[in-house]
Amino acid sequence: MKKLLAAVLACIMAASMVACSGGEGGQNAAAPAGDESTTSTEGAAPKEGGKLVGISMPTKSLERWNRDGSYLEKQFKDKGCEVKLTYSDNKIDQQVKDIENLIADKVNLLVVAAIDGESLSNVLSNAKSANIPVISYDRLIMNTDAISYYISFDNYKVGQLQGQFVIDQLGLKQGDKSKTYNIEFTAGDPADNNATFFFNGAMDTLKPYIDEGILKIPSGQTTFQQAGTAAWDTKKAMDRMQNILASYYSDGKTQLDVALCSNDSTALGVTQAIGSDYKGTNKPIITGQDGDEANLANIVDGKQSMTVYKAVANEAVATLDLGMAMLDGKKPDKGLIESSGWEFDCSYDTESYDNEKGIVPSYLLDPIIVTKENMKKELVDTGYYTMDGDYLKAKN
Ligand code: BGC
Repeated sequence: MKKLLAAVLACIMAASMVACSGGEGGQNAAAPAGDESTTSTEGAAPKEGGKLVGISMPTKSLERWNRDGSYLEKQFKDKGCEVKLTYSDNKIDQQVKDIENLIADKVNLLVVAAIDGESLSNVLSNAKSANIPVISYDRLIMNTDAISYYISFDNYKVGQLQGQFVIDQLGLKQGDKSKTYNIEFTAGDPADNNATFFFNGAMDTLKPYIDEGILKIPSGQTTFQQAGTAAWDTKKAMDRMQNILASYYSDGKTQLDVALCSNDSTALGVTQAIGSDYKGTNKPIITGQDGDEANLANIVDGKQSMTVYKAVANEAVATLDLGMAMLDGKKPDKGLIESSGWEFDCSYDTESYDNEKGIVPSYLLDPIIVTKENMKKELVDTGYYTMDGDYLKAKN
């Protein structure tokens, strides 16, 4: 019940009570309706003195960004802001154009989840010249001094949770080589700065067991470059796993014990490949991240073992409070966490995220492990999802 429900109630009561131009932020995360359009400006016009917020999301094709976009839009609108929300179809040029348009529309604040972290330097220097503050949302935007803050989850911890899950499930103990296991890695998009954090978190956690030979990687594909999946694409992840299965697991003897996948879109492809092409009789452990509906269904059906859940509703709340403070001309720091009264864990980090122009101050929320066992408690009882028969449906 706790966190989100309390927040939803707070939102209903607090909605519209504080105008966008001022006031402390809220801790209210409500579940707004989905939006199919590429650019959405529908709904509340700014109240007097209100502000215009531009939100640039990467794509609707990866489930979570639909939730992020609608949560963010609802949060800022409830404070009386006008919102322009764009989705760029995972096309870098399109995102540059979308941001150019938002700048031309004279937004007062930009919230950007980059498709390619390296490709926004020019357009964001225009934002800087126009005095538009920028929040780098979820994915760190590289090579620019135009962003003031980064807001995300602890990306390294996501990978650590996946790695630790594998250790716990297999009951691995350092020094105990009585049984060895085979693992394959599927990492994320090399253009996404998060992807290396996820991979390194998992790899660093599992490395002692790999070094001791307790975990083996028959494909030999041990580096991020080898395991990466452009655009986090499900089909690419499936094709790669089919190749690995054909090349290293087709002798009928080599068992695949673990498919460590950085997120749910890649886990979906890997699960499909294993379903169609794996000859073994065991069920490999498959990890994921996001709590996408199809993956939660696979967890219910025993095809995927876990997902790392990141409450994007809370990420939107944190972004709102940060954004409102910035719109008020403040320079938020660690104190924002306390003054906002968030009911979720968040740390202020001024060390980990260097975008090659310097360290970007970061607000990092806490991810959690979701399995078949705790799914109802963590996702349904908290108000993020509803039950739809045996399966879960996201409230967005
Ligand atoms: C996000 C993940 C997501 C991935 C693909 C990453 O930047 O942090 O939650 O799975 O992008 O959409």
